[in-house]
Amino acid sequence: MNFKQPGLLFVWIALLALLSGVFMGTTAALQFIYPDFFEFLPFFKSRPLHVSLVVSWIFGCAIGGIYYYLPKYCQLPLFSPALASLHFWIFVGTGAAIVISYAAGQFGGREYWEFPPVLSIPIIISWILFGVNFFISAFRQKTKWPVYLWMWGTGIFFFLYTFIEANLWIFSFFSDNIVREITIQWKAYGSLVGSWNMLVYGTAIFVMQKISGDPGVGTSRTAFFLYFLGLANLMFGWAHHTYIVPASPWIRHLAYFISMTELLVLAKIIWSWKSTLSQAKKYHHQAAYQFMLASEIWIFFNLTLAILISIPAINLFTHGTHITVAHSMGSTIGINTMILLASVFFILQGDPAKQADHPAFKSGIWLSNLALLVFWWSLILAGYTKGKLSFTTELSFQEIMDEVLPYLMTFTVAGIALFMGIALIVWRALPGIYRLSRAR
Ligand code: HEM
Repeated sequence: MNFKQPGLLFVWIALLALLSGVFMGTTAALQFIYPDFFEFLPFFKSRPLHVSLVVSWIFGCAIGGIYYYLPKYCQLPLFSPALASLHFWIFVGTGAAIVISYAAGQFGGREYWEFPPVLSIPIIISWILFGVNFFISAFRQKTKWPVYLWMWGTGIFFFLYTFIEANLWIFSFFSDNIVREITIQWKAYGSLVGSWNMLVYGTAIFVMQKISGDPGVGTSRTAFFLYFLGLANLMFGWAHHTYIVPASPWIRHLAYFISMTELLVLAKIIWSWKSTLSQAKKYHHQAAYQFMLASEIWIFFNLTLAILISIPAINLFTHGTHITVAHSMGSTIGINTMILLASVFFILQGDPAKQADHPAFKSGIWLSNLALLVFWWSLILAGYTKGKLSFTTELSFQEIMDEVLPYLMTFTVAGIALFMGIALIVWRALPGIYRLSRAR
């Protein structure tokens, strides 16, 4: 690896995190059916390992793209490549410490950040380094910022802010009052998702602009509208995560409205971009193009599900079931991962690995999307069955779970197929990223 390319190092390690994260997901799913499967890592360990690894894929790949794109495509040399490399090593070191502490059964944190809270310190330091590097580099831009620079900057700032907020429970002022603690926790997690969406949607617009060669993609009114919706979502979108907190319903309804409009506008941007592309451009960037296309389709599926589960009468019995998991995995895989894979294959342009007609790539993209469809539906049906039987029958928990089991089995088999599809894609990309990092 060439250490002068911290962006590519991030992308490379993020791809490995994706592969191992999805592998842990299949382990966790098998444990739904066979609780004693792989006793060394029971569900209470495999689940946080899976979630932390896939979340680090999302952040790592987005961060890597930003470090790589600024100097190469935005004519904005990094303020300090050395700081970016330091950021990379903190990312790897903290990631390894988190994996080891989960495997050893050392927890102590909350929700997504279940690791011992002391590991939050290097994470905060690394984001400060990233912020300093990004803003000093981006402020060199003499002309108006395109929307993706705004999105990346906002994502970095708000991640830092919400991450600190998510750790406030260590102070007794917050942890002594249960409503205060839960409200702050869920507010922080809702905004956290908003901050990674900023990084990922910024990447999507950047990739679309570069593929089309039209600078208007990143400066259009619709793109800025998406930015302001995303910003509002960061600030208010958390409200639909706080069902258990007594809050006025209008706050929640506004939050739903904003997050759904955001998805709709993103879909519109991808749709318009597609229609302006010439056949030659579609062909030249075939792999990246196909991932963008997949993300667009998944936006519509997830939007439909989000609309349904935001109806209070439906939410009452879907909340906390596998339907919520379908919602979160549907968006993190179908939308975020597809966009980030488009970014990886955009980076790979010019490399033989990007060939979209390679049988391994073709099988990977088809297998992962079809498997995801079955995976997503079986989670919805599992959640629906559980919610319905809990509300309408007197069946015991065990009897209800017996009814749910066939859906969980389908979910697991589809999950294994999804893992194989993603592995085929990652396998194509890893050597290409490696070659690219050596080439310059
Ligand atoms: C890119 C791929 C993936 C991403 C980004 C992803 C993301 C996530 C996220 C964010 C959660 C937390 C859900 C929540 O708390 O609501 C989760 C949970 C989970 N994921 Fe994945 N996932 C991926 C692939 C997989 C695969 C292939 C499997 C295998 C079947 C899997 C199995 C699971 C399981 C079993 C849970 C725990 C569900 C529960 O607690 O009820 N995931 N995943």
